[in-house]
Amino acid sequence: MNIKIPPGLVDSLRGPHYMTVLTGAGISAESGVPTFREAQTGLWVHYRPEDLATPQAFRAAPQLVWDWYQWRRGLVSEAEPNPGHYALAEIETSFTCHASRFTLITQNVDGLHQRAGSQNVIELHGNIMRNKCLDCNRPAGAIGHLSKVAKVVPHCPHCGGLLRPDVVWFGESLPPDALQAAWESAKNCDVFFSIGTSAVVQPAASLPIIARQNGAILVEVNPGPTPLTGLATYILQGLSGEVLPALVEAMTRR
Ligand code: OAD
Repeated sequence: MNIKIPPGLVDSLRGPHYMTVLTGAGISAESGVPTFREAQTGLWVHYRPEDLATPQAFRAAPQLVWDWYQWRRGLVSEAEPNPGHYALAEIETSFTCHASRFTLITQNVDGLHQRAGSQNVIELHGNIMRNKCLDCNRPAGAIGHLSKVAKVVPHCPHCGGLLRPDVVWFGESLPPDALQAAWESAKNCDVFFSIGTSAVVQPAASLPIIARQNGAILVEVNPGPTPLTGLATYILQGLSGEVLPALVEAMTRR
């Protein structure tokens, strides 16, 4: 597929600038990790979030919820970063000089950005490979690691409560430090990319709007339209695993 990268966008990325990127499940789709809301393949098309992704659901049926997360952990463990993840790592390490700053905010819990080499990553919704205690909230440490393969829900070594995945469930607050850092980065950037997200889940969906309101160039990378599309300065329609390598190539050429 021949992807056209607007020269004006490449020019904006040449000089020193602050670049902030928000990613969603779409960037990991080409790695085989299912998205949430897409017809046919989205997780929330086949499962009810209220049965699997709330503290109430876990208290009511811990083993059911645990088993579902173990299944997703299996998918993530077998997945590899795709060209979209690698392109973002390359933009961060090769194209941002000392006068620039690159921040990657992700709603994904799969850790694929870090595995591709991205460094300045803010995980807004936690990480599926970690556990924490449902009751005392303490991280699970070594037991958390072992529990990746646990068939039965493990218990907290500190208080005996049940261990749960360290992800943000519906009705829960985002990690405050991560949210604050994401907010600052959206407010202060010159260029904001929204990649592979349906841009409907708050507060993440507000970040591109904040960036735009504060004068940033807003770029959307998605095969289809979202509520954000009308606000975007540039729309790069397509798969992130194709669009982002094309962007890197265009930045290298000029
Ligand atoms: P969604 O499933 O809502 O949206 C995925 C988006 O990715 C859609 O807009 C697709 O068009 C797009 N997409 C699909 N394949 C793509 C590709 N190869 N390249 C680029 N884009 C592609 O996922 P999110 O927006 O991430 O929250 O959902 C946000 C949050 O809702 C998730 O973090 C999760 C979920 O409930 C929690 O679990 C807290």
